[in-house]
Amino acid sequence: MLPNRNRTQPRAGRSWPFSGMDYSDTRRKPHVLAKILMAAILTAVCIVILKQSPGFSGKSVFSRREPGVTHVLVTGGAGYIGSHASLRLLKDSYRVTIVDNLSRGNIGAVKILQELFPEQGRLQFIYADLGDAKAVNRIFKENAFDAVMHFAAVAYVGESTLEPLRYYHNITSNTLVVLEAMAAHGVKTLIYSSTCATYGEPEKMPITEQTPQFPINPYGKAKKMSEDIILDYSKNTDMAVMILRYFNVIGSDPEGRLGEAPRPELREHGRISGACFDAALGVMSGLKVKGTDYPTADGTCVRDYIDVTDLVDAHVKALNQAQPNKIGIYNVGTGKGRSVKEFVEACKKATGVNIKVDYLSRRPGDYAEVYSDPSKINRELNWTAQFTDLQQSLSVAWRWQKAHPNGYGLRSS
Ligand SMILES: NC(=O)c1ccc[n+]([C@@H]2O[C@H](COP(=O)([O-])OP(=O)(O)OC[C@H]3O[C@@H](n4cnc5c(N)ncnc54)[C@H](O)[C@@H]3O)[C@@H](O)[C@H]2O)c1
Repeated sequence: MLPNRNRTQPRAGRSWPFSGMDYSDTRRKPHVLAKILMAAILTAVCIVILKQSPGFSGKSVFSRREPGVTHVLVTGGAGYIGSHASLRLLKDSYRVTIVDNLSRGNIGAVKILQELFPEQGRLQFIYADLGDAKAVNRIFKENAFDAVMHFAAVAYVGESTLEPLRYYHNITSNTLVVLEAMAAHGVKTLIYSSTCATYGEPEKMPITEQTPQFPINPYGKAKKMSEDIILDYSKNTDMAVMILRYFNVIGSDPEGRLGEAPRPELREHGRISGACFDAALGVMSGLKVKGTDYPTADGTCVRDYIDVTDLVDAHVKALNQAQPNKIGIYNVGTGKGRSVKEFVEACKKATGVNIKVDYLSRRPGDYAEVYSDPSKINRELNWTAQFTDLQQSLSVAWRWQKAHPNGYGLRSS
């Protein structure tokens, strides 16, 4: 209701708009001063909040080096492994900047991390495509990174055989963009996500880091090319480089905060754990096992499954032990091969669902048997797989899948 303009005396305890002319100056002064003070405080608060935002041209806390704080750029941090790595880094008091174009990752995972670590200067998310060299260069200019964990990639073997150019662009060219930005801005520590797919189908098992690399699909080739570029470049610099060649990653955060939530449209290219869970949830009518005539004990492919908790632990150890002028290349696996049939049995037990299995012909680009020799990473970085247990890892992941049938979208409980 508008104030009565005819009134000559103010009502006690009532505040009025700045523009009100009803009262004498002596009565108004304290109100006006209080309001000016409030406006000044609000402005100051806004400036502080704005300064935290990545787009602000002033100096954000992420743009400053701070003694005792290691600031890690996590590319692909909205994805499966990158989000788990970010969680571990944040838990270990690192400062984290996630850069992701959300082409495959989930902003929901980033939101959970932000809820867990709301304090200023812990975590920021920057939406950007690593193929955009100008944007990447700006991000490096505006942030004081100490190290880069480069996870961002398209990462499906089957898809890479259908869309090879996309893979070479996304994996190889984008690694070049990241390296150039690192060089231009003096960031000298790189932990690179590589893969056992760079080895192809070696004759001798287990695979050591000395095993010759002859990748047989565009995904493996694109990663091998990225490795070569990183190695060639780092030879003439004092960079600290760790290349981690992961085997098959499974599992999720044991505390159930994060999980693996690939886009539904990627189902057909999906990894075996996702396919098993989809079958157990009834999203798919059953599980399609592609290839039963491989030269393995039960005819199905053999892989070395590594829990994501162990994998991110390897990253933190690699980061801590990275040294200028040194290149470390490590297999990250358990050293034990498990067949697809064994995997399916473990998945049935973990989910409690008697999943229907259809056995089909081979998928192009697949190889029969792959498992690691992890003794080098064990010896040099003091790392072993401590959490990986096929059935247990799948049980943990299943709990998250059951609670999040729509990924990071709607939750069932
Ligand atoms: N999952 C595995 O079993 C496995 C095995 C070996 C190696 N790797 C490697 O680990 C890394 C992470 O894999 P993941 O399983 O978490 O995959 P993911 O698809 O869950 O995550 C990849 C993330 O990168 C982002 N991304 C992709 N292209 C981008 C671009 N151009 N710019 C910015 N962001 C981009 C995606 O949006 C996504 O969030 C990849 O480099 C992959 O090759 C994975």
